Amino acid sequence: EEAKKAEPAKVLRVGTEPTFAPFEFQKEGSKEYTGFDMDLIRAIGKQMGYKVEIMNMGFDALIPALSSGNIDTVIAGMSITPERQEAVLFSAPYYRSGLVVMVQKNNDTIKGIEDLVGKRIAVQIGTTGAAKAESVKDAKVTAFNTNTEAAMELKNGGVDAVINDSPVVGYYLAQGGSADAKTVGDVLEAEEYGIAVKKGNDKLAAEIDKALAELKKNGEYDKIYKTWFGE
Ligand code: ARG
Repeated sequence: EEAKKAEPAKVLRVGTEPTFAPFEFQKEGSKEYTGFDMDLIRAIGKQMGYKVEIMNMGFDALIPALSSGNIDTVIAGMSITPERQEAVLFSAPYYRSGLVVMVQKNNDTIKGIEDLVGKRIAVQIGTTGAAKAESVKDAKVTAFNTNTEAAMELKNGGVDAVINDSPVVGYYLAQGGSADAKTVGDVLEAEEYGIAVKKGNDKLAAEIDKALAELKKNGEYDKIYKTWFGE
């Protein structure tokens, strides 16, 4: 019998918003998408036998792109929330996170979220940090398309605070941001990240969950975790 021609690899179209280091970002001068989420989804795709194609879009465009079928899945440090679960199906949680307040380093009046009443807060559009900021009484919230812009606005003194995910703020501070900024108060909200697929696509969600479970079992998840977060 003649050998079968190799089937073209199935493609998994993955949407992300890459200003969220160390989960998804582009190293300076590079177009390549890197980070914890990027390594994880490539490993999941490989496990599933798919070729992974990363697509860059606005954070608030990710769920609409899933719903319209332009992408198959989203990995973007996206927190599993009841509101989002109305629109999408999440994998099992893959990372435990939370929100935190960041201020200028020399600010000694804002000690936590309770001090943000009436203040100017920068956030990324469509995020849980944005929702949290909106809940602060009389706050003037500016929603930026990227996290880079939100952090820059704080540095330039255009706002009094940023609300963003704690591992992302931690990474930013560790990468040099601590020269101008610091976090204040406790972690505000415990959240877990999930990989999203279109609601109704239970088959793909199950495939992703199966691959994720396998990577957790075989040590690959831990390896990726250590690469980005240490021990
Ligand atoms: N965890 C937050 C949320 O789900 C922020 C995620 C932002 N992610 C990104 N890739 N910019 O709303």
